[in-house]
Amino acid sequence: MSEKLPVLRTTPSLSRRIFPVLSLLVFCLALWTYGRLLPVGSWSTDEQQQRLVHIPRNAQELLRKCSALRTRPRTYPSSSLGKRTVSDRYEPGSQNMSYLITNATIFTGMKNQDGSVQVIAGGDLLMTNGLVRGVGTDLPRDLLAAVEPSKLTVIKANGSWVTPGLVDVNSQLGIFSSPALRGANDFDSEKGPVLPWLRSIDGLHTRDNGFELAMAAGVTSAQVLVGASNSIGGQAFVIKLRRTAEGSAFSMVVDPPHGLNGTDKEIVDEDHLKWRHLMQSCGEKTRRYGNRMDIMWSLRSAYHEARMVMKTQDDFCAKAEAGVWDIDESTFPDNYQWEMLVDVLRGKVKVTSDCSEALDIDNMVRLSNEFDFPLAIFLHASEAYLVPALVNASESGNEAPAIALLSTNHRHSRESYRGSEFAPAILAGRNFSIIMTTDYPVVNSRQLIDEARKAYHFGLTEDLAISSVTSAPANALGLGHRIGKLQEGYDADVVMWDTHALQLGSTPVQVWIDGIRQIPLTKTSGRSTYSIGTAPKEIVEPDQSRMSAPGQPSYEKEAQETLDWDGLAPLRGTREERRVVFRNVKEVWIRGKEKIEESFTAEGDDLGVVVVEQGKITCVGPLDDCVGSDDEHAVEYDLHGGSVSPGLLTFGSPLGLEEISSEPSTTDGQLFHALVVDVPPIFHDVGGMVRAVDALMFETRHAKMAYRFGVTTATSSLAKPHRLYESDDSMIWGTSTTFSTAAMHALEPGAIVQTETALHIRITRPRFDVHSPATSVSSQLATLRRLLYGWESRDTDTGLMFRKAAEGVIPLVVEVHNADIMASLIILKAEVNAKIGGQMRMVFVGATEAWLLAKELSEARVGVILTSLKPIAATWDQRRILPGPPLTNQTTLGILLESGVAVGIGIEHPQLAIETRFQLSQAFHDSVPFLTPREAYGLATTNLERLLGVKGIDPESADLVAFDGGSAFNLTSKAVAVISPQRGVVDVL
Ligand SMILES: *[C@@H]1O[C@H](CO)[C@@H](O)[C@H](O)[C@H]1NC(C)=O
Ligand SMILES: *[C@@H]1O[C@H](CO)[C@@H](O)[C@H](O)[C@H]1NC(C)=O
Repeated sequence: MSEKLPVLRTTPSLSRRIFPVLSLLVFCLALWTYGRLLPVGSWSTDEQQQRLVHIPRNAQELLRKCSALRTRPRTYPSSSLGKRTVSDRYEPGSQNMSYLITNATIFTGMKNQDGSVQVIAGGDLLMTNGLVRGVGTDLPRDLLAAVEPSKLTVIKANGSWVTPGLVDVNSQLGIFSSPALRGANDFDSEKGPVLPWLRSIDGLHTRDNGFELAMAAGVTSAQVLVGASNSIGGQAFVIKLRRTAEGSAFSMVVDPPHGLNGTDKEIVDEDHLKWRHLMQSCGEKTRRYGNRMDIMWSLRSAYHEARMVMKTQDDFCAKAEAGVWDIDESTFPDNYQWEMLVDVLRGKVKVTSDCSEALDIDNMVRLSNEFDFPLAIFLHASEAYLVPALVNASESGNEAPAIALLSTNHRHSRESYRGSEFAPAILAGRNFSIIMTTDYPVVNSRQLIDEARKAYHFGLTEDLAISSVTSAPANALGLGHRIGKLQEGYDADVVMWDTHALQLGSTPVQVWIDGIRQIPLTKTSGRSTYSIGTAPKEIVEPDQSRMSAPGQPSYEKEAQETLDWDGLAPLRGTREERRVVFRNVKEVWIRGKEKIEESFTAEGDDLGVVVVEQGKITCVGPLDDCVGSDDEHAVEYDLHGGSVSPGLLTFGSPLGLEEISSEPSTTDGQLFHALVVDVPPIFHDVGGMVRAVDALMFETRHAKMAYRFGVTTATSSLAKPHRLYESDDSMIWGTSTTFSTAAMHALEPGAIVQTETALHIRITRPRFDVHSPATSVSSQLATLRRLLYGWESRDTDTGLMFRKAAEGVIPLVVEVHNADIMASLIILKAEVNAKIGGQMRMVFVGATEAWLLAKELSEARVGVILTSLKPIAATWDQRRILPGPPLTNQTTLGILLESGVAVGIGIEHPQLAIETRFQLSQAFHDSVPFLTPREAYGLATTNLERLLGVKGIDPESADLVAFDGGSAFNLTSKAVAVISPQRGVVDVL
């Protein structure tokens, strides 16, 4: 075997001396290597090596691979990143700027010794090279000295709040495109229940409009989850929302897992191994693949496959590591299809499980115990607060999973029926880590902070509310060592707010991701959809009156009641027929003829009283002015500086017409859509006109909840919310009805306020994923014209109602979002008026693009009911949104009010009726110069009634709501009683 050895010719004398030694050495080495590495079983001089030894050439690589199997990504806390001086994500070419924020109130997310979260008043924060380099009141001089002055921007925060960038664990940003288009519909696959080989970033559209809107709301990172309708929809990825210079989806991934970009296959140590992320679902969302038993089997069989692969690998490695290479092949037993689940079993994956009911939580915990893998997050765990021990029953020895929830979006499905606003606070009391999330596009990313605000209102502490959208999600995703906190060495994902982040209406003024400023947009950022062209203000003037968190009402009683009733508290108040005296009243508003009027406002600290006899207010004023207020038989309530104001009206959702929207048996059912199907002859009405009043259901949980939150009246039509997922589009939805949310049945006095309120239609372009033939906009308008011209016989309800609408007897309420369609409708209205000689009352609902036509709407006297104050372009019809602060100074609401358009606000889903006063507050803060508080209150009372044609609410007999602790606008307050002259009682809620 040994052939000629090379001779060192250059130094003959030396070579002569060392040649024998060297050649011997080389020979021995060659022998040894040959013996070790080559499968030459026949060659051996040693007796002991007589048995066959197969040693593959790539033995070292295989052994490294085996040892890497046991490596787990580092978990927080980690020391390795604290010393970073340049971020791996920094793009020096982009701006190459350092930022110093001075005199800020900084919520760092770090814990103080007493467990509270650190807040640094008058603090400074330095960002360089994509990282937070210093936070504190006294930054080391050498840190600042190291920054070139010309590259440093100093921002004087004047006490403004600064928080870590927000992190959303449940988002379909980029894969569910905005606006939704068929060509970009990449949010799930229908190719089977278990698809762990799919990857959300393979469908991530980096130019999506949604990113910018989310960033403007302070969201800097999101876990993009794919396919909640599959039991395993695919691999999730945590991305930064900033568009990178490279423009790829890969470059947005916060910590790209090993091998993701197809290169970089080297085996890595634990310092460099990244967490992977996976989404799995159980429960009713996966129905297209069978029931719960089917789904659990699909998961168990998949994990069984993965376990077999893992066992093969472990056996292979056990032998290899023992030096027993009795396998002919030199390939590692990889399995490309199941490798993700193998990594789950090896504990290298942060698994998010979308499981709502106790049953589902139990199924998932048992699965994790059967296959011994850790669960990181339970998502939408509606019943977790009822079964906390179950959630924590995983035996993997890992910490309890975090619970990710939405605040008020419950009761839309069977599995969310017992969901509760109080769940975050209850679970936090059990030491669970609480994450608030959006499920974008279910709730849009712009409202992530609102979810935290609501959770706070319903009892989560201030610290936990902010952590629930910053450090808690970051930790649960295994990224708590670099995002979710403001600390030296962390990624510079920073948000500066105009007021305290938990104040309703508070908005980011500046947002950084990886130390690169994203908001405000500048001319040079160039890519904005909403170029505002204003230079960023480097000195910020925060609203000092809203710099601390709002007060928190106490919901302890309600929370306990919810637990006592296993999530389904009866939601019934107590009726008080005796004289009731409300004390410490700051403000009383009542209904005037046209608008909300002030009846009493306390002067300074001299709070007043409201005396109520049999549901009627007999006296309002300072204590001394009201006789009877000291009646010892009277029942007294202390409102603690609270207020009394008219009950609110909700409109826009099917409240009172369904119990659970995803359960057909709890709804009115399907209408005949006259432009799509032939209405049965027995109907004898080609338009299939229906009346919502015929379908009314009283005492739905949505209605009872609305009532408890001060919403005493609802106007509802049979129009289904224009959801992105459902193919339930129609043009004619019949007439709406107005009813009391307190009534138990239709025959109760005052239950039905108005039998037929308005006529409702929807004009829309086809849905993005339409399968069946859709009715064109032109056909819809042609139909509408014909009906309004009166060419349908008035012997049918369709002919009759459209005639009434044409004559202005009832309003024609049109759900429409697109400005071009609105323009066509305005033209049509003029034509109809000219032809019929009436004054049509037309109202647009939704009306996302209405701001483009503000002047024209005002001139045409067309009113608008906005259903979103933080719009996104969900459909093409809505793409020209006016986002509002901080992307644009003005809001749609502001522009419409300024132009003199009559405006109201509404909702799309009945579970959101309880948020009406939060909406009013948001509207007020967004439109301060144009709107007084009482005018804002009109948006969900008098204005809305006038727009819809609600006539039955008599100022004398209408309900009033008593709020404890503040005005209706205030997160500090809570509705405690409804004063009902009509029913002659005070309902104590
Ligand atoms: C810091 O901000 C506060 C407002 O919170 C302000 O009163 C104070 O003057 C500021 N200090 C400096 C040095 O700018
Ligand atoms: C793949 O990613 C690694 C870092 O994770 C990087 O070093 C490498 O250059 C990337 N390759 C390509 C082709 O982008």
